[in-house]
Amino acid sequence: MNLDASHLLGYAEKYGTPLYIYDGNAILGQIHKLKSWFPIPEFRVHFAMKALTNRNVLKLVNSTGCGFDTVSIEEMQIALSSGVDPADVNFTPSGAEREEYLFAIEHGIGLHVDNLDMLEFIAKNKPGAEVILRFNPAIRAGGHHQLQVGDEDSKFGLNVRETEVIADYVRRLDVKVVGVHIHVGSDISTVEKYFEAFEFLLQKAHEFRKDLRYINFGGGYKVAYKPGDHETDMHELGRMVTERFIRFQETHHQPMQLIMEPGKFLVGQAGVFLTQATTVKHFRKRSIAYVNSGFNHLIRPMYYGAYHRIENLSRPGAEKDQYHIVGYLCETDTFSSNQEVAEIHPGDILAFYNAGAYCYMMASNYNSRVRPAEILVKDGKDYLIRRRETLQDMLATEVDAGI
Ligand code: LLP
Repeated sequence: MNLDASHLLGYAEKYGTPLYIYDGNAILGQIHKLKSWFPIPEFRVHFAMKALTNRNVLKLVNSTGCGFDTVSIEEMQIALSSGVDPADVNFTPSGAEREEYLFAIEHGIGLHVDNLDMLEFIAKNKPGAEVILRFNPAIRAGGHHQLQVGDEDSKFGLNVRETEVIADYVRRLDVKVVGVHIHVGSDISTVEKYFEAFEFLLQKAHEFRKDLRYINFGGGYKVAYKPGDHETDMHELGRMVTERFIRFQETHHQPMQLIMEPGKFLVGQAGVFLTQATTVKHFRKRSIAYVNSGFNHLIRPMYYGAYHRIENLSRPGAEKDQYHIVGYLCETDTFSSNQEVAEIHPGDILAFYNAGAYCYMMASNYNSRVRPAEILVKDGKDYLIRRRETLQDMLATEVDAGI
């Protein structure tokens, strides 16, 4: 995020708050870095678009040659309507409906399969279909426990203990396994866990090598949430994975693509969320600052205990104090209870950093509050990419039953 306080305050003035702002140049910078760390000609990046689906962002990402990882029929439709080549889109859902797979088949989207019922369904509906098997690697890693999805009992992926059964299905059914896939979790900071997972993936690639073209390593790379925070050493990961992948390819004499599916790594730090303080209460033990938002707009602190650094943009030099920063919902909606923030007064603009991934996307209309606007800043120019929701938008799906 390269946007300074004066620019952010200008956007708050121009577009109002609450407001999501994305730095397009920061997103491009992350893509560039990622590609430089994995110097493999067959390296491909598929943006896990569930992190941020605004099509202006998708077009920007796709302009660098990146494809998309999608998880629902709606995400596939959004991706296609952004102009991406369907061959650069994968469908990696969990427990999706049959109609969604039929849509993917019809449009030539990459079929990731994580259950045997769906494998049978695909074989029946598209004999000879090319599929990518998503395995559960039985590796526990990631940040908050809800973000660890690779352990054996998780709902994701084909059960690693059933490899023989899976191989049997593949032999029996009219499908071609062209890829293997894993995704261990999110906010994984240790390179060692990734390397363990990569070895697992290569093992599966070897077992299903006959028609194999894609080795998909998922996403989950941890970014820093505050200065000095631990993050995945992508440079080291790139070095180790590149070396290992090249060796694997050499022994298998088969052209293969290495695919990664980052979400947070591409857009997390490129986003900032602006709110305005509505009131401040001073108690004996603490001060509470309220802002014109809540977990209806940014749920990560309440849902995952996630840390978003908060800055009072309106009083840069003011003395700092420890605030309890909360929202305007009629329910507990604490954003932070342990950050030092420059003295807050009603009307001040507060910035919540690291708000590019899974923030707008997880917003809701709780308390009948409309969702914020989104803007994209690129090369110094700001563009409105989603207008603020209105009451009419919110009521549009309600039906008057005449009762
Ligand atoms: N690939 C698959 C199959 C995934 O399920 C995910 C994320 C990714 C890639 C991208 O993971 P990332 O690089 O963004 O960590 N709402 C949570 C994150 C949930 C991630 C779900 N799957 C959060 O706000 O932290």
